[in-house]
Amino acid sequence: MRSQHRYSAIAILLHWSIAALILLNLFLGWRMGFLKGLSQFDMFQLHKSVGITVLLLSVARLLWRLTHPAPPLPAGMRSWEKAAAHGTHWLFYGMMIGMPLTGWAMVSVSPWNIPTLLWHHIPWPHIGFLHSLPADSKKTVEAVSGDIHEYIAFGGAALIVLHVAAALKHQFLTRDGVLGRMVPGLSATPSLSSEK
Ligand code: HEM
Ligand code: HEM
Repeated sequence: MRSQHRYSAIAILLHWSIAALILLNLFLGWRMGFLKGLSQFDMFQLHKSVGITVLLLSVARLLWRLTHPAPPLPAGMRSWEKAAAHGTHWLFYGMMIGMPLTGWAMVSVSPWNIPTLLWHHIPWPHIGFLHSLPADSKKTVEAVSGDIHEYIAFGGAALIVLHVAAALKHQFLTRDGVLGRMVPGLSATPSLSSEK
């Protein structure tokens, strides 16, 4: 049987589009706190559009991942390194889905009740059961989801730094082709990439 050393084109496309949109939204989320009036309103709509797009792409990515196993990690990696890589990846899935869901929860219970219009055109509903909660429960949900949204933002940013550092370490120190598994055109050094 032919062993596969790279992620599939679909997985690579989803990885890089989601990564770019998350980085953009971390920036927008931080930036919109400094704006006022109409520019803040527009920035919020953009933030929500990017975030919901991340949600949809991440659900697609997760379904793809569950039905298409990742290529095996290089045989030379120690078991704790493999465990750390897998742990980081699953934490990422939690972030990719948890971040937009908590944002969506927040706007669904907000007393401002501002509708979401994705990319200026597509109406996106509030989460129905949260939207119909009594006012005091909405307040609690807003505070809790806002806190979680912020914690995931900080945790996610730290995870990204760790993930990029690991990718660079594999590329320039270990040189085992791990980066090439996710970057078209880079070598995935097949001779080092068989596991078990
Ligand atoms: C990739 C997904 C997302 C990322 C990386 C992200 C990131 C951030 C960041 C860094 C902040 C500023 C820190 C904070 O106040 O929590 C923020 C705030 C916020 N985000 Fe998101 N966000 C995402 C998705 C969403 C979605 C889908 C929505 C709504 C549909 C949303 C709604 C909000 C709101 C309402 C705030 C302001 C919270 C406040 O001022 O209390 N976010 N986001
Ligand atoms: C917001 C930014 C990012 C997120 C959320 C993210 C998320 C992920 C996830 C979830 C996986 C695991 C795929 C799977 O097996 O299901 C992965 C793999 C990978 N990512 Fe990222 N990533 C991000 C940015 C980056 C960057 C900037 C780089 C390169 C410098 C990178 C390089 C890689 C590589 C090389 C792999 C494959 C690792 C392996 O072979 O197991 N990622 N990423």
